[in-house]
Amino acid sequence: MDEDIEPWFPLRTARLLLREFRADDFDDVHAYARDPLVARFMEWGPNAEAETREFMARMLAEQETWPREGVNLAIEHAGDHKVIGSIRLSVTDAKNQTGDIGYSLNSGYWRRGLCTEAARALLAVGFGTLGLHRIWAECDLENAGSYRVMEKLGMRREGHIRQGKLIKGQWRDRFVYAILADDFREVRR
Ligand SMILES: CC(C)(COP(=O)(O)OP(=O)(O)OC[C@H]1O[C@@H](n2cnc3c(N)ncnc32)[C@H](O)[C@@H]1OP(=O)(O)O)[C@@H](O)C(=O)NCCC(=O)NCCS
Repeated sequence: MDEDIEPWFPLRTARLLLREFRADDFDDVHAYARDPLVARFMEWGPNAEAETREFMARMLAEQETWPREGVNLAIEHAGDHKVIGSIRLSVTDAKNQTGDIGYSLNSGYWRRGLCTEAARALLAVGFGTLGLHRIWAECDLENAGSYRVMEKLGMRREGHIRQGKLIKGQWRDRFVYAILADDFREVRR
């Protein structure tokens, strides 16, 4: 990311606090990372404790660096102060002002619009503070929860990638979605 840009988090939304992970988030993180429902379409998981510890160590280690290509944030539910998921915004192609997002949430909190709320806040940072032109995301063809989030954000389905990821030993097709800065301004109006 641009060296002149200051850390743009934590972020508050109506029901969430998006902030850096802390060591004492382990139990909350492991609660969703060990859940087969959450891990179903992911390259990782369901996690053993050691895998969640490794994830936490990586999260804490990357907090020592700035700027970062990707920013991973804990999704803290303001109602009960639990960490209920994680969300990421990466700028992997700065020259073309292109970023991508990814997210996962504790299944006990699904279908309340919480992921959409968190992701919308990251799109606002991406197109606002970071000056991005395009933000994309991808998901498994069967991951309706994930592509519904993208559609609610105003992202458009741009493609279908055949066997783009090896997930739990199976080659899986992927949908690619994206939104441009102009689209985002339009949907916010
Ligand atoms: C993807 C995920 C983060 C969505 O979180 P969420 O907080 O439930 O998302 P939202 O409530 O903001 O929106 C989900 C939308 O998908 C819809 N949806 C969820 N599951 C669905 C399904 N199986 N079939 C059809 N629609 C579904 C919901 O109804 C909702 O749409 P609506 O508001 O129009 O009703 C969550 O399902 C998750 O963590 N999944 C596991 C990890 C994962 O797959 N991450 C994405 C990797 S690409």
